[in-house]
Amino acid sequence: MSKNILILPGDGIGPEIVAEAVKVLQVLKDQGEDIAWSFGHLGGAAYDAEGHPYPESTQKAARAADAILMGSVGGPKYDALPRELRPERGILGIRKDLGLFANLRPALAYEELAAASSFKPEVIAGLDLLILRELTGDIYFGQPRGRRETADGHAEGYDTMHYSVPEIERIARVGFEAARKRGKRLCSVDKENVLETSRLWREVVTRVATEYPDVELSHMYVDNAAMQLVKNPKQFDVMVTGNLFGDILSDEASMLAGSIGMLPSASLDVNNKGLYEPIHGSAPDIMRQNKANPLATILSVGMMFKYSFDRGDVADRIDAAVRAVLRAGKRTGDIAMPGETVIGTREMGDAVVAALLR
Ligand code: IPM
Ligand code: MG
Repeated sequence: MSKNILILPGDGIGPEIVAEAVKVLQVLKDQGEDIAWSFGHLGGAAYDAEGHPYPESTQKAARAADAILMGSVGGPKYDALPRELRPERGILGIRKDLGLFANLRPALAYEELAAASSFKPEVIAGLDLLILRELTGDIYFGQPRGRRETADGHAEGYDTMHYSVPEIERIARVGFEAARKRGKRLCSVDKENVLETSRLWREVVTRVATEYPDVELSHMYVDNAAMQLVKNPKQFDVMVTGNLFGDILSDEASMLAGSIGMLPSASLDVNNKGLYEPIHGSAPDIMRQNKANPLATILSVGMMFKYSFDRGDVADRIDAAVRAVLRAGKRTGDIAMPGETVIGTREMGDAVVAALLR
């Protein structure tokens, strides 16, 4: 049966980078992959078209799709909207609605881009790290939240952090399973010295570990983890953490790879249906200038084939094409060193297509 992909280009550079990923989908289809795709609105683009960042039309299409490819959402144009209508609510809404609780954010240091990283080559050479971020719980969604007045008459904002045992168990299992297929080491990141939520997190992860005696579990406080990531990132294999800590650590880890423009991600439900997106944002400052790096989005297509379609072979081909393009010296501005020739978004997409056809 044909795999049905919903494409949500979103805002800012989203439509441009997604257009390059669609070129890759077209090549795969021409080569015999049984895939079909359609487009929908999410984020600011959805607000403009349908008055809501995650409109009903998108909800229906997303629930029916086998996998979803997203560009990016957000932009200054929407900053003044009430929180419920902001583009970010679109992405948070679709994650929650589809139960996409497991967010995989690999950080790979491409040898070819070592010079573009702000780290010493020996610190990052060969780095292959997977950050697993819980995506549908934590302070992102916790109730109650809002504004209230303090006893002495000041306005106060508040949010609630919480994790339940089943939520922790299921993300921990994804972490142990992932580690089992890789370097067999899992580091769970929390703030157990301060937070009740983290105390429970650590207890549950430790208990689940008894089901995985072949995986070595360690625990780390999030502040230390932030430091260790820049000090010695190669000590990590898989890191598992909550929604808020994972948001922060995964942006940090992206710098190890040279550019945030290189990192794809997968957000999976219990059946491995997934939403795939680059981890970077909508970069409105460079939109419609043919400057954005489409590689993270193209690599996200690879992750889609690997995780949702069980086709690691296609993911490997896409990874190899991206590596070939980097080896040939193709660079968008974000990964170019001074003096290197810079190519545009479209030219980068074309280069990957050419590599796939070779
Ligand atoms: C991410 C983003 C989102 C998040 C924003 C856009 C809501 O930063 O995917 O990491 O915080 O999860
Ligand atoms: Mg983020």
